[in-house]
Amino acid sequence: MRVVLGCAMSIWLAACQPDDAYQFASDVEVEGDAIVRSLEGKAGNAERGLTVFTDRDQGHCVLCHAIEGLDVEFQGDVGPPLTHLGDRLTEGQIRMRIAGAQKIWPETVMPSYYRKHGLNRVGREYLGEPALSAQQIEDLVAYLSSPKA
Ligand code: HEC
Repeated sequence: MRVVLGCAMSIWLAACQPDDAYQFASDVEVEGDAIVRSLEGKAGNAERGLTVFTDRDQGHCVLCHAIEGLDVEFQGDVGPPLTHLGDRLTEGQIRMRIAGAQKIWPETVMPSYYRKHGLNRVGREYLGEPALSAQQIEDLVAYLSSPKA
């Protein structure tokens, strides 16, 4: 009885689906392959997003992704170039790919930046902490969806 009830209740949390092991760092609203609402409840800042994208101590996305015209010496090519991303993906789709790459591509080398990690994955002090904050992700979404020169 408890199991049945638990599962019925957790439909609310979408926890009865096959990928129930996947947990975002906070409640997010998923629609198809997109997270439709800002994780912060407001839009990010593209200028800060550029810093998150390039900074070693933040996202350091340039390790794997290049952007045309970006003045950074080393830009990786493990992942696809992200120059014209806004022409191809909605903000919600971009947000999902940053927050939960492994939800979209289970085998990808790209980290899921807004995932709640289990005990075996990270040090105790980081338990439950996502790799990037909601604000950093919103700043990246603003940066990547804006047109590049
Ligand atoms: C270790 C390498 C790696 C890092 C670091 C990385 N990515 Fe990725 N990313 C990939 C790969 C590889 C893909 C392609 C997905 C796949 O098939 O695995 C991808 C796909 C994407 C896509 C979808 C692109 C498209 O054309 O549909 C976006 C958006 C993206 N990454 C953004 C980011 C951002 C923002 C960061 C930094 C916070 C980041 N990535 C860090 C490897 C990486």
